[in-house]
Amino acid sequence: MSPHTITLNDGRKIPFIGFGTGTALYGRDAEASVQRAIEVGVVHLDGAQLYGNEDSLGAAIAASGRPRDALWVTTKLGKVPEGTTVRETLVASLKKLRLEYVDLFLIHMPIHHADLAAVWRAMEECKDAGLARTIGVSNFRVQDYEKFMPTARIVPAVNQIEYHPYTAAWAAPIIEYQKQFNIVTASYGGLTPIVRKPGGPIDPVLETVRQRVERDAGKPVSAGQILGLWLKAQNVVEITTSSKVERIKEYLATETLPDLTSEEVAEIMEKGKTIHFRQFCKWLDE
Ligand SMILES: NC(=O)c1ccc[n+]([C@@H]2O[C@H](COP(=O)([O-])OP(=O)(O)OC[C@H]3O[C@@H](n4cnc5c(N)ncnc54)[C@H](OP(=O)(O)O)[C@@H]3O)[C@@H](O)[C@H]2O)c1
Repeated sequence: MSPHTITLNDGRKIPFIGFGTGTALYGRDAEASVQRAIEVGVVHLDGAQLYGNEDSLGAAIAASGRPRDALWVTTKLGKVPEGTTVRETLVASLKKLRLEYVDLFLIHMPIHHADLAAVWRAMEECKDAGLARTIGVSNFRVQDYEKFMPTARIVPAVNQIEYHPYTAAWAAPIIEYQKQFNIVTASYGGLTPIVRKPGGPIDPVLETVRQRVERDAGKPVSAGQILGLWLKAQNVVEITTSSKVERIKEYLATETLPDLTSEEVAEIMEKGKTIHFRQFCKWLDE
């Protein structure tokens, strides 16, 4: 089955489920994990210069033998070292990834750059040069967008943020801003309500919805899959990861489950918005 995709504002289609090489794999050799993920059907791989393991991601891609256009590969711009350019950092990433282009190149953190307008111009040049097919941002709030959007020639296609029911209230103004430019949200940390903050206000509704979907699907459904369906209903990309093959298969199987109703999406949203909890990038709340 070809994967579920979300269409971006540049017309390209990003696969809904991405396998991340940060968090659990941060600073570690990701080759075996990524290879396993590709073997069970993952086609979207999420890397970053800051994760320090692009070379192992590249090794796994090469070992998979998959044609280049069968995979979606993302990397993210870290801090740009003194005396280097954005483009040079991307060329160095491509060398490690053993690729001629990445599908998506994101500015990882707005706080790493003093002049976002200049950095965005350099991102645009990477796209013009064909080194990145699509460009975007990560961890950007409205005030970060405002620093470069007035001079942007190309609108970002994606903003990758921590998005789940417990950051939904915080993310609402960002998502509202992005609507006018058709910027797609990609979620990381999306399983936080069950993995890092269990016992929170969405638990009862998550269980009710899980039982409903399980009944309709006629097969076991997990709470994590309901969180995935909640993202899918909002056209949000799910960037996740796992050390376990069974769990990766479970993530991919989310695409085959019945969709949530708009009432179910709204109820999870409403209960989620009653608290705020983030696992990553705490500076975003300052
Ligand atoms: N742009 C950014 O600043 C940024 C920040 C953070 C992350 N990311 C990206 O997003 C990717 C995924 O991030 P994430 O790890 O936060 O994703 P996540 O989807 O929230 O969590 C995945 C983790 O949850 C565990 N898990 C899943 N289901 C579980 C269950 N039912 N019970 C217990 N544990 C369960 C998995 O462990 P098992 O190994 O046990 O399955 C895995 O380590 C990263 O690798 C990175 O690529 C980006």
